[in-house]
Amino acid sequence: MLRSSVFVYGLLLACMTGIFQITPMEAQAQKKKKQRAATTSAAGVATRPEKNKNLPNIVILATGGTIAGAGASSVAAGYTAGKLPIEDLLSAVPEANKVANLEGEQVASVGSQAMTDSVWLKLAKRVNELLQSAEVDGVVITHGTDTQGETAFFLDLTVKSDKPVVLVGAMRSATAISADGPKNLYDAIVVAANKSSAGRGVLVAMNEEIFSGREVNKMNTTSTATFQAPNTGPLGYVFDGKVAWYHATLRKHTTQTIFDVSQVNELPKVDILYGYSNPDPTLVDCLVNNGTKGIVIAGVGNGNLYPTVETKVKQATAKGIVVVRAARVASGRVTLNGETNDKALGTIVSDDLNPEKARVLLQLSLLKTSDPATIQGYFFEY
Ligand code: SIN
Repeated sequence: MLRSSVFVYGLLLACMTGIFQITPMEAQAQKKKKQRAATTSAAGVATRPEKNKNLPNIVILATGGTIAGAGASSVAAGYTAGKLPIEDLLSAVPEANKVANLEGEQVASVGSQAMTDSVWLKLAKRVNELLQSAEVDGVVITHGTDTQGETAFFLDLTVKSDKPVVLVGAMRSATAISADGPKNLYDAIVVAANKSSAGRGVLVAMNEEIFSGREVNKMNTTSTATFQAPNTGPLGYVFDGKVAWYHATLRKHTTQTIFDVSQVNELPKVDILYGYSNPDPTLVDCLVNNGTKGIVIAGVGNGNLYPTVETKVKQATAKGIVVVRAARVASGRVTLNGETNDKALGTIVSDDLNPEKARVLLQLSLLKTSDPATIQGYFFEY
C-alpha cells in the first residue's frame, strides 16, 4: 500500500515537473539553450570561451536565410529560412575556430525576401560600431541569398571602415544533404580573417568565389553556383583555406563615399517598375500617387521605355520625382541619351547597376539631394 502510494506520488510529481513531456530532442534543445545562455555576454554577443591572441577577432552577424534554414527532410526542397541561431551555424564549422576568434550576434532571423530598410540601417550601424573597436578585425554577415546583393551594395556604400566585411549565404538549408552553408561560412571567415581583404569594399564569398558587393547578383534560382558578377567577374577565390585576388573595383566604396547613415532612421521610398511589351502606363501614376520619391525603371534593352510610359515618366520628373533608367537585361551599361532622350524626359541612367542596385543607390542619393544632375554624377562615381 505504502509502495503504491509512493509510486502514485512520484508519478504525480513527475507529471507536474513535466519529466514525461520532454522528448530527447527538446532535452537537447534545452541543453543548447543553457549553453548559449552561459556564453552570451551582457551586450548580447555570444562569445566563444577561450581567445587565441595570435588570431584575428571576427564577429559574425546573423540575419537568417537558407544558411540558417531547416526542413523536415534532408532530401526534399521545402524548408523554412532563418530557423537556426548563429551558435548552431558556428557549431557546424569547428575548423573556423583555428582561423579566428569568433563571436556571434543575431541581428535578425528572416528569409531575405523579407529584408527591410530598417534591418539594413541596423546592420550598417552595428557593423560601423563593431569595426570602430580595436578588438574587432572583421565582420561576416550571414544572409539569405535572395536579396544578398542589395544588402551587400547598401553596406558597400555605408560602412565606414577598411576592415573586411564579408556576406555569405547558402542555397541549401542547414538540414539538407550536402548543405553548402558550413563550407561557405568557413570560407567567408577565412576571407574576413585575411589582412589582404581590407580596403576592397564589402565582399560576398559564395561557392569558393569572392565578389564585390557592388557587382554581385544572384543569377540562378536554385544552383549553388548562383552568384556571379556579370559585368566584371569575381575579384578572387577562396580555396583550401587561402585567398587569391585577381581584380579590384575602381568604384568608390565604404570610406570613400559620402553616404553616412549613422543618424538616419528611414530611407526614402523608391520603387522599381518592370518594362515589357504593351505595359499599362498608369502604373507610373500609381507609384507617384503612392508617395514614391524615386522610380527605377527596369527598361527593355538599353533601358528603353514604352512610348506611353515615356509620357507618364516625363510628367513624373516634372513633379520632381527622380527617375533612373536601368535595364531588365542581366548585364551591360545603360547609356545616357542613347536611343532614349534622357534630356527631354528628365531621366538619368543607372550606368551598369541592375534595377535593384540602382534602387539602393537612389535611396541613399535622395538622402543628400533630389537634383537629377547631381544624382547622375553619383551613378557614375559609385
Ligand atoms: C532567403 O533569401 O532568405 C531565401 C533563399 C536563400 O537564402 O537562399
